[in-house]
Order: sequence, then structure tokens, then C-alpha cells
Amino acid sequence: MPRVVQFDEFGSRDYLTVVERPRPWPGPGQISVRVMGAGLNLVDIKAYQDERAAARMGVTLPSGVGQDFSGFVEDIGEGVTAFTVGQAVFGSAPFASIADFTVVQEDGQVVAKPDPLTFEVAGSLGVVGRTAMASAASLVLGEHDTVLVSAAAGGVGILAAQLAIRAGATVIGTASVENHEFLETLGIIPVAYGEGLVERVLEVLDDGDRVTAVLDNHGTPTIDAAIELGVPVDRINTIAAFGPGARGAQTVGGRGATNADLIEIAELLAENELVLPIDSIFPIERTAEAYARLETRHVRGKIVIVTE
Ligand SMILES: NC(=O)c1ccc[n+]([C@@H]2O[C@H](COP(=O)([O-])OP(=O)(O)OC[C@H]3O[C@@H](n4cnc5c(N)ncnc54)[C@H](OP(=O)(O)O)[C@@H]3O)[C@@H](O)[C@H]2O)c1
Repeated sequence: MPRVVQFDEFGSRDYLTVVERPRPWPGPGQISVRVMGAGLNLVDIKAYQDERAAARMGVTLPSGVGQDFSGFVEDIGEGVTAFTVGQAVFGSAPFASIADFTVVQEDGQVVAKPDPLTFEVAGSLGVVGRTAMASAASLVLGEHDTVLVSAAAGGVGILAAQLAIRAGATVIGTASVENHEFLETLGIIPVAYGEGLVERVLEVLDDGDRVTAVLDNHGTPTIDAAIELGVPVDRINTIAAFGPGARGAQTVGGRGATNADLIEIAELLAENELVLPIDSIFPIERTAEAYARLETRHVRGKIVIVTE
């Protein structure tokens, strides 16, 4: 019997359970996907921990978990023309991707998977790929920019930092010391986050150079540091601070991206022009353990659930 991970109480990952459900059939205009990989995102933690946050996202109990998936088209509903049975695809199915099967609209957030892209990377790409593409594009970066990217070893940050480098910018990325060597291999100048960030950024800048733009993936402390460094708020984009905490910075996130953006970043990854590291892989039965790892907030790249 096909498996689905769901929770029927709010509070913690302890309520995540693997349940058996009949195979779902696609309705008109829908496709069902045999899921191979499903990446984890922080938004799931907000939903299963916090009833109010869940309500704002339209999550009701019992709820599935997981946003992103990769896999093969299993069945197509009436009138579907964009996909064929057996085709490899990836995309997002909000709160429904950690399962053996998921169902999505053919004109929803689903696209063909480039052949060379692994199911693990493709299955992790939906949310972070869209968010990195939209946030990086929002600042229109060029070779005269020096960009500070926070949480640069995280899912969004690692992609956004590499996109900024591709745009010609010099990139300074915040991460813990354990990730510094790794960031350097990608051409990112690492600095530690936390108290003293401004001073550490000034230390790595060449004489006469200054930070011209910021891609914030962690929250208000990065924005405050950026303002102290003299970066105008219209050159700061945050995906992790809201309301007063955003300090007037722009807040372009994943909603600002299209399927064409997702295809573009997938192709860059397939051609090894970008890297999205897989932090760890867990079988579906160990989904709660996988979220325990995500809850540490010290993940390099993405955690993926696999079904086989
Ligand atoms: N608006 C949107 O569309 C959107 C979409 C996706 C995500 N988000 C939000 O964007 C943020 C990043 O998401 P993500 O999926 O990239 O997260 P993630 O992968 O969980 O980020 C993990 C990274 O955060 C770093 N980190 C931990 N503590 C830090 C600190 N105090 N300062 C700076 N970096 C720190 C870690 O670095 P070390 O391991 O080196 O410590 C780790 O590499 C989250 O707040 C998420 O909710 C928003």
C-alpha cells in the first residue's frame, strides 16, 4: 500500500507518522507522480509546530508534509497534454510531497526533469530554486557589486550566492567556520555570522571596496549589519525578515519566480554550472528524524527523503 507522511496534531515532529493510503488518481488536468525524492523545507516545521502559522498557510488536520518532489509521471488525468506517463518531472506540491505518490495540476509547479539531474537534487529544488532565482534577480547584480549573502551554506543561500557570482559580483557569504572551506571552493569569501559581523566583513573587503548589495537568508541581524555597512535598503533583499524586522528592505521570495526560472536553474545544475549539495538522505520511514536534522538549522544544502 502506498505511504504518505502526515500529522494529525500540531506541536512537534513527534506527530509525523507514516500512514498507508490508496494510490491517488489524478482528476481532470492533473497528473499523479511516483515520488522518488522529496526535499525538506523550513516552512514544514512552521506548519507542524505552530497551529497559527499553519492556519495562515491554509493547513488543516490531518495534513501532509513536504513541498518539493521529483519522480515519474504515473497517471495522467483527462485532458492532460503537457506530460506523458513515465516522464521524469520535479516541482512542488505544498504539504503533499513526502509520499509514494503525489498529485499536481499539469499547469502547476511541475516541470520536466533534465536527464543529468539526480532525483535527490531535483526533488530538493522547487522552493529553494525559485526563491534563489527571484531574490537574486530582484537586485539586478553586476560585476561592480560586492554582495553579502547570509546563511550562504543553506538551501537558498548556496544557490543565491552562486547566482550572484554568475552575474559577475564578488560574494561574501556568512556561515559557521565548518562551512568556510566549502564556500571557498565555490568562490565565496566566507565570514562568520553573529556579533562582530560588520568588522569581519570590513576585514575581507579590498581597500576602497564596499558592500553594495545584500541577499539576506537569515533575518534582521544581517539587515542591521548591512545598514551599518552603508548599504541602501533598496539594495537589500530579505526572505527571512518581515514587517518592521525587514527594516524597509525588499522582500522578494519564491512567489516572484516562474516555472521558466525553475527550468533555468535546473539546467544550470544539470550542466554543473551550479552546485546544490545534498546534506543527507533519509528513507521515508525516518522522516521525523530528517526534520530533527533540519531543526538544528545547520544544514549544508538540502535534506532529502527517498521512497526506495
Ligand atoms: N520567502 C520565501 O519565499 C522563502 C523561501 C524559502 C526559505 N525562506 C526562508 O529563508 C530562510 C533560509 O531558508 P533555507 O531553506 O535556505 O534555510 P536552511 O537551508 O535551513 O539554512 C541553513 C543555514 O543557515 C545557517 N545559519 C544558521 N544560523 C545562522 C545565523 N545565526 N546566521 C546566519 N546563518 C545561519 C547555517 O549555517 P551554518 O551551518 O554554517 O551554521 C546553514 O547553512 C529561512 O528563514 C526560510 O524560512 C523564505
